[in-house]
Amino acid sequence: MRALEPWIAALTVVMAVGGWMGAVPAAAEDLPDLPGITSPDEAPEGCVSCHTGAMSLKNKLAALKHRNIDGKVEVIPDDCKSCHSEDQGLESMAMVAHSMHYASISNSEFITKHKGSCLNCHMMATGSGEVTVKSGPKNR
Ligand code: HEC
Ligand code: HEC
Ligand code: HEC
Repeated sequence: MRALEPWIAALTVVMAVGGWMGAVPAAAEDLPDLPGITSPDEAPEGCVSCHTGAMSLKNKLAALKHRNIDGKVEVIPDDCKSCHSEDQGLESMAMVAHSMHYASISNSEFITKHKGSCLNCHMMATGSGEVTVKSGPKNR
């Protein structure tokens, strides 16, 4: 028994160090990107935070030959739902928003530049757990 003791002691140290290392919080670069939770939220108003200037929704929708919506939409994406709902016979805003950003998978700039997080558009109240959709007044 006596001869084994140093081994047991060494093993105990190794296990203790291993356990301690496991308890160390992960470095920031190892964490998943969850805007507003693990990183600053760069799109607090959702769509309109990212879609400014040349990227504006006005330009993006014009490029898709979307009908004119001047005067119909003040708050985005909330007011888009006046037309984009199943009752109106159109795809829901959820389908439109999700497919516009995820359909081309990793070729999309939304994934490569913005890491594709759901929390770019959604917001989670970490206390209550409620998930909502961010929105903001239309820009140009
Ligand atoms: C975190 C930034 C970000 C947010 C938030 C965001 N988008 Fe985008 N969106 C992008 C990027 C990046 C692209 C791809 C741009 C490109 O490749 O031209 C894009 C593309 C689009 C396109 C064009 C797709 C196409 O194929 O031409 C539309 C339309 C669009 N977004 C609408 C929306 C709407 C509506 C919302 C809110 C529900 C929204 N976006 C929220 C970044 C964002
Ligand atoms: C006045 C009604 C109306 C409003 C308001 C409206 N849309 Fe649309 N949108 C349509 C119709 C109708 C279509 C489908 C056109 C078709 O069937 O070809 C469409 C299609 C789209 C498409 C798909 C285009 C494609 O080529 O696949 C996108 C993206 C879109 N809308 C985004 C938006 C966004 C973002 C808003 C709010 C800023 C919005 N729409 C507000 C009527 C509307
Ligand atoms: C580009 C913006 C955007 C991104 C990114 C996004 N969502 Fe959404 N999501 C929306 C919008 C807009 C709605 C519709 C809200 C409404 O109807 O009021 C929605 C609705 C939903 C709904 C409600 C169900 C439904 O069909 O109406 C669920 C669930 C959801 N999203 C899950 C996700 C998940 C999971 C991700 C990430 C993988 C994600 N969303 C990423 C914009 C986005």
